[in-house]
Amino acid sequence: MTELSKTTLEQAENEGKFIRKVRSFVKREGRLTKGQAAAIDKCWATMGLTHDMGLLNLAEVFGNNNDVVLEIGFGMGKSLVEMAKNNPDQNFIGIEVHKPGVGACLMDADAQGVTNLRVFEHDAIEILADCIADGSISTLQLFFPDPWHKKRHHKRRIVQLEFAESLRKKLKIGGVFHMATDWENYAEHMLEVMSQAPGYENVSADKTYVPRPEHRPLTKFEQRGHRLGHGVWDLMFKRVQ
Ligand SMILES: C[S@@+](CC[C@H](N)C(=O)[O-])C[C@H]1O[C@@H](n2cnc3c(N)ncnc32)[C@H](O)[C@@H]1O
Repeated sequence: MTELSKTTLEQAENEGKFIRKVRSFVKREGRLTKGQAAAIDKCWATMGLTHDMGLLNLAEVFGNNNDVVLEIGFGMGKSLVEMAKNNPDQNFIGIEVHKPGVGACLMDADAQGVTNLRVFEHDAIEILADCIADGSISTLQLFFPDPWHKKRHHKRRIVQLEFAESLRKKLKIGGVFHMATDWENYAEHMLEVMSQAPGYENVSADKTYVPRPEHRPLTKFEQRGHRLGHGVWDLMFKRVQ
């Protein structure tokens, strides 16, 4: 968004006008399975976070000062839970708008005995703006975001310059924004946007993509991509300023 259109949007909002913002998702209500609903009932009090909690004190939330990894759009949460389980000395926050995904993630976390994970069921853009302190996150993860294939929908892609800037502020200096996609055109878009975004350095030796890091478990969408013969592109950008 340009400075001018941002000002116009803010002005309109201040005047109480309703402006429809472009969102990176379409809310599919979907049905919760019994298991997902039960997991939400059982685990929400210990693992659920809400937008109305406002700015979080992460040391209080987790009861320690460990590094925090934040994942945007975790889907059913399988890889997030696996990462949390494999890295008990780190804290994990997942943000997902799809309630059955949140339920599935909590069900899995409960079954695996994971305690270093908290989740939001909300738009990540709003959570980042209102609940996450600047300079507080070690790693931001965005795995297989909705690719919005059609050109006229590209504005819905979550990776945009403004998004990159809002994420950079949340990262510690030296913290990494890690993206992965199985859609080549989105990978190119990510590379183009992130290479222009100020304050980041591409971790890749040749300033393009990085090999798939071992610590990133296979996600459902990646497995699907493999079946369809898609490639997978990982990108890592470090906050340097
Ligand atoms: C294609 S799926 C990938 C899920 C998962 N990362 C995986 O690899 O299996 C993208 C997910 O991002 C979620 N999503 C999209 N925009 C979001 C936003 N602004 N805030 C939170 N979740 C979002 C969608 O609901 C969807 O579950």
